[in-house]
Amino acid sequence: MAYQSWVFRSNQSSYDLKLEPVPDLPESQITPDSVLIRVRAVALNYRDIIGWKNLAGRPVDGRVPASDGAGEIVACGANVRDWKVGDRVAGCFFQSWQSEPFEMRHHKNDLGGSINGMLQEFISLPESGIVRIPSHLDFEQAATLPCAALTAWVSLVCRGKLKSGQTVLCLGTGGVSIFALQIARAMGCEVIITSSDNDKLEHAKQLGASHAINYRQLPQWSNDVLRHTDQRGVDHVVEVGGPGTLEQSMKSVAAGGHIALIGVLTGFGAPATSLFPLVARNVRLNGIYVGPRDQFLEMNAFIERVKLTPVIDRVFEMSDAPDAFEYLASGKHFGKVVIRT
Ligand SMILES: NC(=O)c1ccc[n+]([C@@H]2O[C@H](COP(=O)([O-])OP(=O)(O)OC[C@H]3O[C@@H](n4cnc5c(N)ncnc54)[C@H](OP(=O)(O)O)[C@@H]3O)[C@@H](O)[C@H]2O)c1
Repeated sequence: MAYQSWVFRSNQSSYDLKLEPVPDLPESQITPDSVLIRVRAVALNYRDIIGWKNLAGRPVDGRVPASDGAGEIVACGANVRDWKVGDRVAGCFFQSWQSEPFEMRHHKNDLGGSINGMLQEFISLPESGIVRIPSHLDFEQAATLPCAALTAWVSLVCRGKLKSGQTVLCLGTGGVSIFALQIARAMGCEVIITSSDNDKLEHAKQLGASHAINYRQLPQWSNDVLRHTDQRGVDHVVEVGGPGTLEQSMKSVAAGGHIALIGVLTGFGAPATSLFPLVARNVRLNGIYVGPRDQFLEMNAFIERVKLTPVIDRVFEMSDAPDAFEYLASGKHFGKVVIRT
């Protein structure tokens, strides 16, 4: 029986998405230490747009996209003891990264990057490359956790040492930022958020943001952040913008505060600003690349305890995956975009 898989195919300058039959039986993919998963839902990240549009020059020809997916185990290899058929699981972004510290070899094991990802009906993963999903979440909700949620969790909680009562600044209303908002609120923190869209700012306020700033209308938005924090600045910035937003982020952070350096929404270039203010103000600048499996497990326990529900903007069918990519690239979404496989 053939099954279906979306695949990046080179078109010279970037990649097309092609739905292709996979000829071999799914069962033939199982090794003694792996499980076979019927993927039920996949969530897209900006990273998938970077691959699709070839924004980082990373070759992905023939690669199955998407790091983030959830489904149920349909078969287990002979040596697998911790999992059984029917278990509801999600894949880990870095299949080999179990715990801190990070090592560069893990870049060879990122789903949807160096190895085939989740945008297919079946995937075989090592038993050490999956986690149980929170019991209150369905597959579509759980599919959003491996990259966006874990990045927000690691940024704020594991590396940032977030404490109740602190103030967090989130940039924009995409996947990572809305998870950061939800996690910070669940931990008793205040959240300031920016967006290009006033309706999205209203939505963020309904989720608990106490102050919302339109970064298009106020390009020097750090002034507004400072005004709102009695000139002190915020304790944490979830920096998903990159070179085009770093200057404003540096002006927004409190002395002794923390910037989680995560994203490249404004590109991969150098920031056109001095980094010395970080030195002068004893700010921690922390490079984040998703997170290890043990922190994914900790996050899922937290999500289950506080009953955090991921914010999904739209769900697309498997056959419409290219429309989901287009939609994410348009930036019209709030939170996550999901594909039902
Ligand atoms: N290092 C890591 O581990 C890691 C993990 C996940 C993501 N990332 C990176 O983090 C970034 C966000 O990823 P994502 O998947 O959450 O993206 P996403 O869901 O596609 O979010 C896109 C949103 O970002 C906002 N945005 C765009 N340009 C902006 C700007 N100049 N200033 C402020 N906000 C801006 C827009 O929000 P509004 O519509 O509200 O304006 C846009 O809708 C990407 O660069 C991604 O590559 C890194």
